[in-house]
Amino acid sequence: MARKTAIKVANLTHTVTSNTGDLTILKGINMEILESESVAIVGSSGSGKSTLLGLLAGLDVNTSGDIHLYDEHFSSQTEETRALIRGQYVGFVFQSFHLLPSLQAIENVMLPAELKGDKQARQKAEVLLEKVGLSHRLTHYPNQLSGGEQQRVAIARAFASNPKILFADEPTGNLDEENGKLIVELLFDLNRSQGTTLVMVTHDNGLAKMCDRQLVMSSGQLTEQSL
Ligand SMILES: Nc1ncnc2c1ncn2[C@@H]1O[C@H](COP(=O)(O)OP(=O)(O)OP(=O)(O)O)[C@@H](O)[C@H]1O
Ligand SMILES: [Mg+2]
Repeated sequence: MARKTAIKVANLTHTVTSNTGDLTILKGINMEILESESVAIVGSSGSGKSTLLGLLAGLDVNTSGDIHLYDEHFSSQTEETRALIRGQYVGFVFQSFHLLPSLQAIENVMLPAELKGDKQARQKAEVLLEKVGLSHRLTHYPNQLSGGEQQRVAIARAFASNPKILFADEPTGNLDEENGKLIVELLFDLNRSQGTTLVMVTHDNGLAKMCDRQLVMSSGQLTEQSL
């Protein structure tokens, strides 16, 4: 059976207004990612990688062009509709974690599943936190966790809703070698066992090479390249 297209992007541009005038961050991106593919986006700091990931996940609205996730498209949708599409398809690990400060580690991880009405949310969150090596930190609040621990909570949370597509911005950026390996194994486990499509931004060439494909961002333009 032919694999479905998970993500399709056509002529995507993104311009923001800053205090020094308009700045075009993304300059005509085209790409297609198939279901259960793993794709790394690499490129220098400031080239537009996080901006692209945020747009693909529907967290912000692009200036022009089209983004499709499966049969849904984000352009000209309300924030509400984009939230529904995100809920249906997307898990996201942010470069800066975005944990809710007033919730304990376990509550942060439970939240997406709980919002979907999953009665097993707490048990699942416990299992996930154990997998990322944090069973001894379940009831800590984000400000009581180290950067790497917060990163691992954020990863467990992204896994909790069993997303069809997982976007991860520097998933191993704040981790030591041992925990980095653990997270990479988890990511590819999810990819193999659930057919989850993985799209990750990374500065780690070793991790990028483990992905099926490598895309290079350079000044807001994307090219395919094997490392
Ligand atoms: N809302 C905004 N307003 C103005 N400039 C922005 C805005 N968002 C991003 N930029 C600029 O756009 C460029 C691309 O940012 P982006 O965060 O996508 O880079 P990146 O490739 O993820 O970099 P890094 O590897 O450092 O995380 C940067 O120069 C950034 O300063
Ligand atoms: Mg970034």
